[in-house]
Amino acid sequence: MTAKILDGKALAEEIRKEVAVGVAEIKQRHGVTPGLAAVLAGDDPASAIYVRNKRRACDEVGMVSDTFLLPADTTNEQLLTCVQDLNADSRFHGILVQLPLPPQIDERLIIEAISPDKDIDGLHPFNVGKLVQGRPDFVPGTPAGIQQILMRNGHDPAGANVVVCGRSEIVGKPMALLLMQRGEGGNATVTVCHTRTKNLAEITRQADILVAAIGRPKAITADMVKEGAVVIDVGINRVDDPSRKSGYRLVGDVDFEAVSQKASAITPVPGGVGPMTIAMLLVNTLTAARISIHGRQPHS
Ligand code: GUN
Repeated sequence: MTAKILDGKALAEEIRKEVAVGVAEIKQRHGVTPGLAAVLAGDDPASAIYVRNKRRACDEVGMVSDTFLLPADTTNEQLLTCVQDLNADSRFHGILVQLPLPPQIDERLIIEAISPDKDIDGLHPFNVGKLVQGRPDFVPGTPAGIQQILMRNGHDPAGANVVVCGRSEIVGKPMALLLMQRGEGGNATVTVCHTRTKNLAEITRQADILVAAIGRPKAITADMVKEGAVVIDVGINRVDDPSRKSGYRLVGDVDFEAVSQKASAITPVPGGVGPMTIAMLLVNTLTAARISIHGRQPHS
């Protein structure tokens, strides 16, 4: 079998168009332009690229955005002050603190300082709690994007065996919660694997849908995948490539060449999950702008 390529780039464009309609509507009806504040502490080049891409996407859908730069040796107090100022700034409905933060920073302290109503990454314990209860307002962008990739390509997870490799708070845990929820886009039987999992390949071979969020190039090999499985590759790993001008190229967590001969569908890297993460961040920023006007809506 040769896998269908799940094109995240095209789907992200479709979602950005939908968001642009919502942005125009909220501007017209309420005179409110949704705004995103991105906070970047330190000079990690990959983080700088992510933040630039996020802001570009905001511009494209008619939102306002600004970046707040802090030095690599910034303190908890400085970062807290920055977040508190942004909480009080009505121009910004969403606050994104780019992760990872420099080592001297207490990441949890900073995330908990973000107003839950502006927490478009869905990482504040209040929003995590709402996701656990199956009534989220803000789902972290990567798992939310993966759910859209599945649903909009006809791979409803209902009843499927889903195996998530990785237990991070930004991908693995919210991914598992989202897909096990009762309701549309959920109802899967979810197994979460991690570094202490025994017989990993035995478990991944049971997956109808396999989500790889491990952070290691080619960690998922063909022998770990069931024939016909849907494979979602969350990895963005830099590997040396002297033939490129940059000296590196991006590869996922999945051995794409071999696995795409066995899977029925697979996301490429780049152009799969990555663009969807940004698109869902825009969806969340629009939601935050709506919340600033109407408050949180009850979930059915
Ligand atoms: N670093 C890598 N992915 C993300 C993300 O989705 N949000 C934030 N804030 N930082 C990240």
